[in-house]
Amino acid sequence: MANRKYIPVQKLEGLASRQAHCDLPEGTFERELGKEGFFGPATHMYHAHPPTGWIAWDGPLKPRAFDLARINEAQASPFDAPVVLKNASVKLRFWRAPAAMDHLARNADGDELLFVHAGEGELFCDYGHLSFAAGDYIVLPRSTMWRIESRSPVAALLIECTNGSYTLPDRGIVGAHAVFDPAVLDTPSLDQAFRDQQDEREWRVRVKRRDAISTVTYPFNPLDAVGWKGDLAPVRLNVKDIRPLMSHRYHVPPSAHTTFVGERFVVCTFAPRPFEQDPGALKVPFFHNNDDYDEVLFYHAGDFFSRDNIHPGMLTFHPCGFTHGPHPKALGGAFTPKKPATDEYAVMIDTRDALEVGEGMAAVENTAYVNSWMTPAKAAAE
Ligand SMILES: [Fe+2]
Repeated sequence: MANRKYIPVQKLEGLASRQAHCDLPEGTFERELGKEGFFGPATHMYHAHPPTGWIAWDGPLKPRAFDLARINEAQASPFDAPVVLKNASVKLRFWRAPAAMDHLARNADGDELLFVHAGEGELFCDYGHLSFAAGDYIVLPRSTMWRIESRSPVAALLIECTNGSYTLPDRGIVGAHAVFDPAVLDTPSLDQAFRDQQDEREWRVRVKRRDAISTVTYPFNPLDAVGWKGDLAPVRLNVKDIRPLMSHRYHVPPSAHTTFVGERFVVCTFAPRPFEQDPGALKVPFFHNNDDYDEVLFYHAGDFFSRDNIHPGMLTFHPCGFTHGPHPKALGGAFTPKKPATDEYAVMIDTRDALEVGEGMAAVENTAYVNSWMTPAKAAAE
């Protein structure tokens, strides 16, 4: 992503800070115009008005918010869970899992990333047994057979890397052990729980390929491995094991929080961290247009400091093409936060190609979301 060619320009015009996100000219609002997901060429522009000070919106580009917590119906199969957003390289579903799956799932369309939003339980797969709990990411390599048993009601965001594989991001100058050490990744075990679930009953495997389901029936439980070796396996990572990169003098960009890299998209995690301390450093996300990427944010837990009227289980979608940034309430704390640290956990998915909204999402959409950047006086006048 970072090595693409572009026309080099380096210029400072008019009144501008020489250091992004710090020491803004008095009374100005900074906007970053960035290519390649803020890895490419960028300009920091200093405006007299907040760049989200719109008074009207028309047309399909507007920012969207969906309250996935209002999806109440459980689906026996992860493949029947409603699609939230999709394009050719990624598909997001929100799944309320049953108490126990009565079949095995096998996604032949790509690696599956489960983000467990609520609940806990046991995952059984080709490779063995793995317990899971809220805040866990589980990467299931393409075509892994798996099922779960819930100990408490499970809700999960499923992020399919269509036709591709997940990898870890390049850690660059901070080295391999920053953010999280690869040694904290857990893999399934061929333990007693795995042996106990084996039986000679009839088992169905639902295989998804090109979004069509085929069912293969065995006269025994095919999760019957007695051993394995290799460098391919599911991995589990809990958000509490992520130690976010930060600087006390600089608001680091979201790319510093990249957790998994798909193909033509990335998955980032926002985890609790102290606010910047330098008096001149911006404390909230800067206004920006992420000019090559659509942005999705799923709110898992905590108080979302840069957004108003957002609660856990909500998902926002900011398509590429317009400027956005902190909500008016958060903007008041841009340089003087009201608390010493954030306590939010959120999952961000940034996609290189345009996303489509799933058919069922209209039922859980907050259509007033686009108005949430208006000041209270303007919003009341609506
Ligand atoms: Fe954004």
